[in-house]
Order: sequence, then structure tokens, then C-alpha cells
Amino acid sequence: MQARGPLMIEHRLIESMIAVIQRKLERAAQTQSIDPCFVDAAVDFIRVYADRTHHGKEEDILFRELRKKSMSADHQRIMDELIEEHVFGRQTTKALVEANTRYRKGDASALAEVTAGLRTLVGFYPKHIKKEDVMFFPAALAYFTENEDQAMLAEFWELDRKMIHEKYRAVAKGFNTG
Ligand SMILES: [Fe+2]
Ligand SMILES: [Fe+2]
Repeated sequence: MQARGPLMIEHRLIESMIAVIQRKLERAAQTQSIDPCFVDAAVDFIRVYADRTHHGKEEDILFRELRKKSMSADHQRIMDELIEEHVFGRQTTKALVEANTRYRKGDASALAEVTAGLRTLVGFYPKHIKKEDVMFFPAALAYFTENEDQAMLAEFWELDRKMIHEKYRAVAKGFNTG
């Protein structure tokens, strides 16, 4: 498997979660309400899977290795855009968490912010994923030898191996300090 294999497989799961969020948004528009626990689950997916596990592979491994190459100005620009988009995703999720906290406490007016945040994520991810799958990953692949590509793939598996422990250490810590 090429290193981009797991990244593209992860994209498919992110897309399926985005489809779930989309359906919940349609329902929220009808009922003028949303289950805050669903928003928690969506945020957990975005933060732990899409951001930490998936963007972690991109930023901490793939992009780090690409920085060692002399990339074309065009490819450098796309990589900078992707990094900015990851930051945008984090900011959107942070605002979503804050709005969901207010909504859960009974502030009905926060519903609009919760749904706006979810809608932003629904709009953002498919475009970001397409840019990577169609444009950036094929371009990036050309900078690496087969050995370099396989070394990144091995690092991806190692990141995955650590992730479940990181996730549940954070859960236990949250209860211990909460
Ligand atoms: Fe990305
Ligand atoms: Fe990605």
C-alpha cells in the first residue's frame, strides 16, 4: 500500500460521518432542536479521528517530510492552504463546543450557532478532502522514493497504534480532574 492509502481510506469514513451530520441538520431544521449528545459525538469524531488521527498523519508526517523536499511554488501554496484549512476546522469545532455547552444549559438561541458550526464542517470537509485526494496526494507522491513512501506508511501505523491509548488517557484524566 502507498502511504496515501490510509489517508484516503480515512477520508471515506470522514465523508460518511459528514453525511450523518448532514441528515441530523435536516432533522434539526424540522424540529428546531438538536440532541447535544449527538453534537458531542460529532465533535469527538472530528477532534480525535479527523483532526488528531488523520490531520496528525498529514501535518506531523507527510507535510514534515515534504518540507525536506524542494517543492514547486504551486505545491507549497496548496500545502499552506491545507494547513490553514486544518486550523479553520479546529476553530470551527471550538466555537461549536462552546455553542453546544450554552445550548445544553438551556440557551435556545445557541441552536443557530450549533447548526451553523455543523453546517460549516459539512461544507468544509468534502472540499478539503477532494483537494487532497485529487490534487495534493498525487503531486506529493512524486517527491518520494518507494522507500521514503513506505517509511511514512510505517509511521502512520505507529501513530494509529498510539492513538487509542492517547484517547482514553484523556478520557480518564477528564474524569479525574472534573
Ligand atoms: Fe487535510
Ligand atoms: Fe485529509
